[in-house]
Amino acid sequence: MEYTVKSGNPEKQRIGCVVIPVYASRKLSTSARIIDKVSNGYISNLVRRGEIEGDLGNILLLHNVENTLCDRILLIGCGKEKNIDAQTFYKINHTMVETLQTSGATEIASYLTEISVKRKDISWKVQHSIEAINETLYHFNQLKSEKSETRRPLRKFIFSVNGRGQLMQGEQAVRRGMAISTGINLAKDLGNMPGNICTPDYLAKQATKLATQHNKLETSILEEKDMEKLGMGALLSVSKGSREAGKMIIMQYAAGKKSQAPVVFVGKGVTFDSGGISLKPGAGMDEMKFDMCGAASVIGVISACAELQLPVNIIGIIPTVENMPDGIASRPGDVVTSMSGQTIEILNTDAEGRLILCDALTYAEKFEPDVVIDIATLTGACIVALGAHPAGLLSNHNPLVNDLLSAGQNSGDRCWQLPLWEDYQDQLKSNFADMANIGGKGAGTITAACFLSRFTKKYHWAHLDIAGVAWKSGSHKGATGRPVGLLTQYILDRCKDC
Ligand code: BES
Ligand code: MN
Ligand code: ZN
Repeated sequence: MEYTVKSGNPEKQRIGCVVIPVYASRKLSTSARIIDKVSNGYISNLVRRGEIEGDLGNILLLHNVENTLCDRILLIGCGKEKNIDAQTFYKINHTMVETLQTSGATEIASYLTEISVKRKDISWKVQHSIEAINETLYHFNQLKSEKSETRRPLRKFIFSVNGRGQLMQGEQAVRRGMAISTGINLAKDLGNMPGNICTPDYLAKQATKLATQHNKLETSILEEKDMEKLGMGALLSVSKGSREAGKMIIMQYAAGKKSQAPVVFVGKGVTFDSGGISLKPGAGMDEMKFDMCGAASVIGVISACAELQLPVNIIGIIPTVENMPDGIASRPGDVVTSMSGQTIEILNTDAEGRLILCDALTYAEKFEPDVVIDIATLTGACIVALGAHPAGLLSNHNPLVNDLLSAGQNSGDRCWQLPLWEDYQDQLKSNFADMANIGGKGAGTITAACFLSRFTKKYHWAHLDIAGVAWKSGSHKGATGRPVGLLTQYILDRCKDC
């Protein structure tokens, strides 16, 4: 898809379709009033007759409107003008794309950028229009033998900006929107790829391939024998139950000053989580191919930052394994020694995410990070607590919490803090090792984070539990690419100071 910005009146656009907002109670937007005027009141007549009310989701497609140069005008209802927030702006763009896809138009001029969205500027609106369009157009067709092709696919969007003053901002927003969408789509593709294809080795190859596309990015892989030498007994206790070899993928994006301490992202990469010997129930088990969405989001955010050539240092660490039951798989009751030296009693082999993350978090120390953020589809309990809207956020450093909450608000890819109080640590007590890998009844998301916190004492750290947001179930089953938007925004915000 091609995206550009342009300033100019809607009636002067010689193009397939011009998209114009209309607000609730039949209130015309600025661009709607301009069209109305040149067409001798055509729009206000239609509105008066009740052809479109302006409620959110209303549409009206018009052809050959008098004194305009475009083939079509699409009026889109936006609801109450004063009520438009980021989520509503997304829905408006989504409706636009769904309608245009069957309209025959291929090149579009969107005036939805004139809508005022609470606390957002023109850059935000251009960037998020692009993200919404790409989100709506995404399909995972790689594994279908017949590719369904749209006869006249959308080719180009031009976003209206106000005068030349906004052109530069708009162009920068286009670059951001495209880079973030590319990162999100990459994360979705990796997430949607089934476990028989998307193995630890496949993830390693994809991360390696990404490094060939960006000169400041390098990828290296720790194999099982390397991890044995490092004493990563927790990770290896999970990977040994699978025929697929476990790996630790290290991605280094170095575009900041040498002296600048890196941001480290650690992504859970369980390419399939059967539960191991503590086998999961059968229903919905296919969705455990998405248990590597944390890993996918790390690859996605690094792709976006590298594409934007942001002047930062980022390390991606991806512990990746398959969790399977096998003759040599770990049993409940086994005790293993992590890289940190702390011992862990595995009371449930299905709590495998924390076992691979803890060794990756210890390994992260060697990069002398400014902050470490891990991203993991870690607990079903997080879905119970927060549902599918925000990711769970737990951290040992309040400034980092504030930065992530605000990046979430800004990007629309939100997170919400849960407490990481000492009081919960007791739940991890084991009679046979330094700790158990499960916390028993209650607060499953928090006790999982408590477990991780025992490996992150040496640096500022945040944990994002993305179990509820990384994919959708049901008829729209598929990876969402979250939280690539949140984390890229977090890095962009940091760039303001560098
Ligand atoms: N990958 C799962 C968490 C999960 C489950 C995410 C369902 C999304 C949907 C994780 O490895 C897991 O199995 N966690 C267990 C932990 C429990 C054994 C303490 C869980 O949440 O049930
Ligand atoms: Mn599990
Ligand atoms: Zn898991």
